[in-house]
Amino acid sequence: MVLHTSKDLKTSACTASGRPHPVVVMLLFLPEIVREKFYGCGAPLPLGIEGRSVLDLGSGSGRDCYAAAALVGPTGSVVGIDMTAEQLSVARAHAEQYCKSLGYDRCNLNFVEGYIERLEEAGIQANTFDLVISNCVVNLSPDKPRVLREVYRVLKPGGEFYFSDVYCDRRLPKNVQEHEVLWGECIAGALYTNDFIRYARAAGFGDPRILSSAPIEVHDPELKAILGEAKFFSITYRLFKLPEGMLETLCEDYGQASAQAVRYKGTIKGMEHSYMLDDHHLFEKGKLSLVCGNTAAMLENGVSWLAPHFEILGDRSVHYGEFPCKLNFYKLSNFQSDLLC
Ligand SMILES: C[S@@+](CC[C@H](N)C(=O)[O-])C[C@H]1O[C@@H](n2cnc3c(N)ncnc32)[C@H](O)[C@@H]1O
Repeated sequence: MVLHTSKDLKTSACTASGRPHPVVVMLLFLPEIVREKFYGCGAPLPLGIEGRSVLDLGSGSGRDCYAAAALVGPTGSVVGIDMTAEQLSVARAHAEQYCKSLGYDRCNLNFVEGYIERLEEAGIQANTFDLVISNCVVNLSPDKPRVLREVYRVLKPGGEFYFSDVYCDRRLPKNVQEHEVLWGECIAGALYTNDFIRYARAAGFGDPRILSSAPIEVHDPELKAILGEAKFFSITYRLFKLPEGMLETLCEDYGQASAQAVRYKGTIKGMEHSYMLDDHHLFEKGKLSLVCGNTAAMLENGVSWLAPHFEILGDRSVHYGEFPCKLNFYKLSNFQSDLLC
């Protein structure tokens, strides 16, 4: 089946999940065709990325690239890569005009043809991007571990893969994996979340963090019957490329009472009052939060792209055992603790 616009879809997979942040919504004064051909399942648009370089995997008609171009500003740059010529031509057609409308002297948007498993062949060098984003694309790749390895390669040290995709609560049987309609709906290629975590760690991304998650609804009765009890989710993951060995398997305690603690400076535009690192870390401006070694590393000076926005107290000189994050794990809806993992 050929999709002409997102209205042709039979599930909510390619249009699901979190709405873009309000700042991003304001930026989306885009040509209708770019918006109509958007097939994303989330809002992988990090804030605080002024001046940064961003790569969008499977950029499609370019909606997220356009939004990112506005977020990085005239000193930043955005590259979208996609294998489909038709999508690329839609994305390219409006880029110059859009950059002019942002008041830029030079267009900071570039779209290249290529495969996300073979970024090098598309001319994308190692250690070149601060952020890699992607929206509902990795599920379509026949070689997901290779995509993760490629992303790790092209990210700068301290950079991040911040992306939304479709996941499943189990490994899908062959008849589902090979179902043409379910493939086009971004369902058939959905990874079992535990397999994804294994692949991410193997590629070098220790401690994958979930930022947001939303269930995907399958409305079509025939497709529902094929899928049985399998449950699907649109998840936005955050994977940091930090120095080897720095992200540990478990949450470790380096003296959270007096040493490793984090204070958000409130310096990210659009998130002046608090910063949400993931689904269990909301840092209020100015307030000290006690964290494990991994979380501190994701925000630390000389280690992470987020460092300018955080103050870290303490270091790793003394280890006090495992950080008791499970005892103190509060979802944001009933967030009550200063002790975080
Ligand atoms: C569901 S659409 C999402 C497009 C876009 N990210 C958006 O949010 O609108 C998937 C896109 O990924 C591209 N794609 C799928 N597999 C790819 C691969 N292996 N390499 C490059 N692009 C790929 C397709 O051409 C298509 O444009």
